[in-house]
Amino acid sequence: MDILVEHAVLVGVHEQTDEHFDYTMEELKSLAEAIDVEVVGMVIQNLERRHPSTYVGKGKVEEIRRMYEETDANLVIFNDELTPSQIRNMEQELECKVIDRTMLILDIFARRARTREARMQVELAQLQYTLPRLVGLRASLSRQGGGTGGGFQNKGAGETKLELDRRKIEDQIAKLRRDLEQVKDQRETQRKQRKKSGTPVVSIVGYTNAGKSTLMNKLLAKMDPDHAKQVFEEDMLFATLDTSIRKVKLIDNKEFILTDTVGFVSKLPTHLVKAFRSTLEEARNADLLLHVVDVSNEEYQFMMDVTNDTLHDVGVENVETLNVYNKADLAGIPYPAVRDNSVWISAKEEAGLDELVGLIKKKIFEQYVTCKLLVPFDRGDIVAYLNDKANVKNTEYEENGTLLTVEMDIVERDRFEEFIVSH
Ligand code: GTP
Repeated sequence: MDILVEHAVLVGVHEQTDEHFDYTMEELKSLAEAIDVEVVGMVIQNLERRHPSTYVGKGKVEEIRRMYEETDANLVIFNDELTPSQIRNMEQELECKVIDRTMLILDIFARRARTREARMQVELAQLQYTLPRLVGLRASLSRQGGGTGGGFQNKGAGETKLELDRRKIEDQIAKLRRDLEQVKDQRETQRKQRKKSGTPVVSIVGYTNAGKSTLMNKLLAKMDPDHAKQVFEEDMLFATLDTSIRKVKLIDNKEFILTDTVGFVSKLPTHLVKAFRSTLEEARNADLLLHVVDVSNEEYQFMMDVTNDTLHDVGVENVETLNVYNKADLAGIPYPAVRDNSVWISAKEEAGLDELVGLIKKKIFEQYVTCKLLVPFDRGDIVAYLNDKANVKNTEYEENGTLLTVEMDIVERDRFEEFIVSH
């Protein structure tokens, strides 16, 4: 990991149609800080469209150079993904290390990924991004030798070396694709097993820093204190990159699976979304989504749109969703509160969790029914099973067996059809 302290000038083009420009610049600053880069200046230009060869207009390049020199910066970060020629041209014109929003996000992901799968996914996205930009990036990265840029520091120049690098990268891309395909198959098998077991799956999704991990931890601690395993939570962007999957057993023995997934951010690189597709697909197979929103952020509506668009891009559609408006404690709105499919909570203060669990139960256990079963005394195994797996509300001992009043899943009910005496 790079511990070099870098100083950056941020550069953004405000296109006329972009209503969220100020916010994306603010977010770019947070992204830079997430990898310990200090922002020392900003250059903004209003343009109808980004300049095709230099991103900013030609005259603005001089202003960037001045700001760069005056502030003693050693890095310039652009607010959008630059094309290969834009990178090359800016690198030549400015003669300094140049990176764009995509590289920055990829770098954060590379540092935060913990599981083998997440690491492979990030590496694949980095390589795909790098391939067409090898020439410009080579110059930029060798200039500073810093870590930003995912470890592609190439010393020598020259066509042959470039060709070699290109081939090596292509080979590595092919290998990663194969390996990821295998992991995907395993994931698919596990998913099928979970589906077969009939246990409903609830997936937490949302913008980065919305409070997804906090909510997951609080829910686990509340509902299943014995088995709660803590998920990493932190006030930083993309603290969580890897899917965590936990089984939750409620007091009435109802079970569901809770999964957490990667956070979203505006202008998430396309390669990254593609690479993380299989991770994000967890959400596609969910029975219920909890869309966690930081309602205290004034751009929360925009964040929700970004999250919904990204979910749509990876094919998550038609999954029933609860909107969980979190951090209500900072937003000055009444909480806890529930309205239709929305709930206002403060995960940090553990306020509104009961309301949320109530809503989750209503949604995923709709297919639960209460019925009476008469189980012969020689089938003590069934009584034991029901006591363990279902919600037994009443037990009486009759002449010819144990009479149980049980609330259970319809799939389970069908399995015990022969013992049912009344519905
Ligand atoms: P990523 O891993 O980036 O996707 O973030 P996340 O959505 O998992 O967010 P996380 O749970 O890590 O929380 C981010 C920050 O928000 C932490 O500092 C939390 O303590 C804080 N936070 C979470 N919920 C609340 C809340 O209800 N109120 C307040 N005030 N802060 C909260």
